[in-house]
Amino acid sequence: MVIKRIGVLTSGGDAPAMNAAIRSVVRYALHYKIEVMGIIKGYSGLINEELQLLDHRFVSNIISRGGTILKTARCPEFLTEDGQARAVEVIKKNNIDGLVLIGGDGTYRGGIALGKKWGISCIGVPGTIDNDVNGTDSTIGSDTAVNTALEAIDKIRDTATSMERIFVVEVMGRDSGFIALQAALGGGTEDCLIPERKFDFNIMCHDIVEGNLKGKISWIIVVAEGKAKAEDIAKQITDRTSLETRVVILGHTQRGGTPTARDRILASRLGAKAVELLIKGEKGKAVGIISDDINIVDLEFAVSKKKFETDNFYQLIKILT
Ligand code: ADP
Ligand code: F6P
Repeated sequence: MVIKRIGVLTSGGDAPAMNAAIRSVVRYALHYKIEVMGIIKGYSGLINEELQLLDHRFVSNIISRGGTILKTARCPEFLTEDGQARAVEVIKKNNIDGLVLIGGDGTYRGGIALGKKWGISCIGVPGTIDNDVNGTDSTIGSDTAVNTALEAIDKIRDTATSMERIFVVEVMGRDSGFIALQAALGGGTEDCLIPERKFDFNIMCHDIVEGNLKGKISWIIVVAEGKAKAEDIAKQITDRTSLETRVVILGHTQRGGTPTARDRILASRLGAKAVELLIKGEKGKAVGIISDDINIVDLEFAVSKKKFETDNFYQLIKILT
């Protein structure tokens, strides 16, 4: 089939450089004389027929902007048969020959449903700060999020050292310790708690007390939100060590901001590749990057659990403190 018109949406949690990916999809497609329909607010825009034809100028000056000009949403209705049927009706009515889906594993599962049950051609582009999509070393937005966390940790270090305090810093990651581990190593923090690893609280409190006796009083402990609440960790440390603690929750600051060079470049490469695959008649695939080369996998593989080496990383954090 000759592709004449494609749709593009951003879905799930927004991530820095999603805009750069949208720009790349639009301009690459237009270069090959393919029209692009922007779908507003992810799958809910499909269900509610919130569509907009995108031209070259629509995506001007967005490469450096955080967020997503197409907006994004989590759409429970799309999990139902009726919701998907309605979305497919809108896709057909608007002559959309294929979709580029920019999002995380949930968004990809939506693409699997559209392909397997309804025969719609979908290509996934990994956009999530969690970096938990399989088949790619990096997801769009994850580098920016780590840098945002690092910037905050550097600032916290100044006050922690000056007032000799213990800080517990909570970063995002419901199921993924990626941001926490990277920020802990890059920020030179004393400890790190992530969902993927068991953690021995007794050892940490023992280390804090030992360190304290030797004159090491300021600590930064990074915790991924999915592992524990920073407030609870801080309270337990104070209860067990009698030392003063403070808590910082970085929250959604990690989702915003100017995308890093790495994220913009990744987004530009992967957005274009997704369109190229649709032109070639591919479907049910996800694009990614492995050792700086573009990597293409089935959407099913992309949503399978990503292997993520944590032990060596954690050991290094501890050795270097
Ligand atoms: P992310 O894409 O960032 O992982 P979510 O997990 O919230 O974000 O998924 C985004 C949206 O994808 C959901 O709100 C839903 O509309 C759709 N989705 C998620 N899982 C499925 C599924 N199993 N089948 C169909 N659609 C899904
Ligand atoms: O998936 C991205 C993410 O930022 C997770 O790290 C976090 O747990 C979740 O989204 C937060 O979701 P919401 O913005 O809906 O609160």
